[in-house]
Amino acid sequence: MRALSRAVLVGAVAAVTLLAGCERPPVDAVQRGYRGTAMELVYNPRTLAAQAEANVPPAPTDPAPTEGPKARDVYQNVKVLGDLSVAQFNRHMAAITAWVSPQEGCTYCHNAQNFADESKYTKVVARRMLQMTQNINVNWKQHVADTGVTCYTCHRGQPVPAQIWFTAAPQDKRSDFIGNLNAQNQPAPSVGLATLPYDPFTQFLASDPKPIRLISDTALPAGSRKSIQQTEYTYSLMVHMSTSLGVNCTYCHNSRSFAEWNQAPPQRATAWHGIRMARNLNDEYLTPLTPVFPAQRLGPTGDVAKVNCSTCHQGAYKPLYGAQMAKDYPELLVYAGAVKTSALPPPVAEARRSVLYFDVGSPTLHGEQEKGLGQLVATMSQNASTKATISGYHSAAGNADANHELAKQRAFTVRDSLLAAGIAESRVILQKPVQTQGNIAGEDPEARRVEVTVR
Ligand code: HEC
Ligand code: HEC
Ligand code: HEC
Ligand code: HEC
Repeated sequence: MRALSRAVLVGAVAAVTLLAGCERPPVDAVQRGYRGTAMELVYNPRTLAAQAEANVPPAPTDPAPTEGPKARDVYQNVKVLGDLSVAQFNRHMAAITAWVSPQEGCTYCHNAQNFADESKYTKVVARRMLQMTQNINVNWKQHVADTGVTCYTCHRGQPVPAQIWFTAAPQDKRSDFIGNLNAQNQPAPSVGLATLPYDPFTQFLASDPKPIRLISDTALPAGSRKSIQQTEYTYSLMVHMSTSLGVNCTYCHNSRSFAEWNQAPPQRATAWHGIRMARNLNDEYLTPLTPVFPAQRLGPTGDVAKVNCSTCHQGAYKPLYGAQMAKDYPELLVYAGAVKTSALPPPVAEARRSVLYFDVGSPTLHGEQEKGLGQLVATMSQNASTKATISGYHSAAGNADANHELAKQRAFTVRDSLLAAGIAESRVILQKPVQTQGNIAGEDPEARRVEVTVR
């Protein structure tokens, strides 16, 4: 009898402990898809109420007069905001102080004896941040629309945004008796406390990104190039994206087929652009600033803090629940100052025939190579009657079947990217892989290209 009651007690304690990790009912379910598609989203109204309160942007200050001398003519060392009137410039300085360093004030970035001085690293960073914010608002409209962002979107009154990421430190396997954890199996907040790999960001949100794919294009395992590891990393990123936005998977996917683009809600395409935007911010703005930051700001492997989805979103489906804060600061909606050309959207005219080159043996595009795609998408979006014909080329040397398969995978990569960017499937024509004449001996980039002709 005693044993039984002890068992009941242990059971009860275990149940309470387990349930403590769950959310207390009631929760709300919102149906988003066509009836019967099970596309509901589950919300906890109490979490939402707290979230809504934490996401109210500060009220804008009154606009400053545009008349009077320009900041460039009055101050000594103004490189980005020179076109503003002195009054507008000062309004802007007051605003960024409130957004980034309200406790510390102007001297967080400035030497109080000489405001033109650049001895504080924070000022150097802040100038590049100004350009980064403008870049987001001007060049990434496919993600941020007219809502845009300000420094407050990420900083929320703190010098270091609450949500940033560093490349995770490698496990010290010599002193660790636990064996190879394989950068996972430790429930991490970055991936919603799942035991998935806790750093999907280095793989997916910085230079040389890996493909975010796990569904094989072939029915039989022999043709599949997707690994369990790739699957786990993809899920990690997906859990991060869901928790950053405070949504379920069905916000972006029809769970009938996670891979299918034409059955997914439009938010998935927005997210696709968001992934590219995050890479651009990390590669073009944050990483190059690494030598500017003091050592204590750098991560365990000496890298700079970087941006992921939660840096802006912080648990909301749109940052600040879509509050249009940037429109009151028009200086952040233009691109001024020295601009790296690679950060600009590509010119539209010359994209009738595009050639995309892949790395040896790789079916994915990245970095410089991926930019050609933006060009294609722009051309096709501008003229809805155009169609793209895609052909993958492969080398005449080596195993013919493997080459053929690789060329096919490369063509699929390009097709998937076009569909992801919102181009209708009926406008994309895939052709059989073509063998190049060259490359019998030696390395020829022509043997690892995909050609796209838009007519
Ligand atoms: C978060 C960093 C930051 C804070 C805080 C900040 N500034 Fe600035 N300030 C800058 C940057 C960056 C520039 C250069 C802008 C450019 O190149 O267009 C600048 C330039 C200036 C200049 C021009 C100096 C010159 O001669 O070149 C003045 C004046 C100025 N700030 C005043 C202020 C005042 C007053 C405050 C406090 C209300 C303030 N700033 C707070 C980053 C900051
Ligand atoms: C997309 C998100 C994002 C936006 C928008 C953004 N920042 Fe940042 N900012 C970051 C990240 C990430 C860091 C790196 C954190 C660190 O300092 O270690 C950073 C760092 C800084 C720092 C250095 C702080 C420190 O103590 O090391 C300053 C200053 C700064 N930002 C100013 C600005 C200003 C001014 C704006 C608006 C013009 C702005 N930021 C807009 C993400 C952002
Ligand atoms: C905010 C939108 C969003 C959310 C939320 C989201 N996904 Fe995704 N998912 C995407 C996008 C975009 C891609 C394609 C990424 C790319 O190609 O760069 C993708 C890709 C995938 C893939 C790979 C499909 C393939 O082609 O192999 C799987 C599987 C997947 N997601 C599962 C999930 C799961 C499970 C969840 C919930 C934990 C989830 N997703 C939440 C946007 C989202
Ligand atoms: C620089 C800040 C920033 C970053 C980083 C960012 N977003 Fe966004 N996102 C925004 C803004 C601003 C909007 C609102 C656009 C609008 O009003 O339509 C938005 C909108 C969205 C939407 C559309 C929501 C809807 O209901 O229409 C999705 C989905 C989304 N973001 C996913 C992501 C994902 C996934 C990531 C990370 C890969 C990401 N975002 C990173 C700023 C950001």
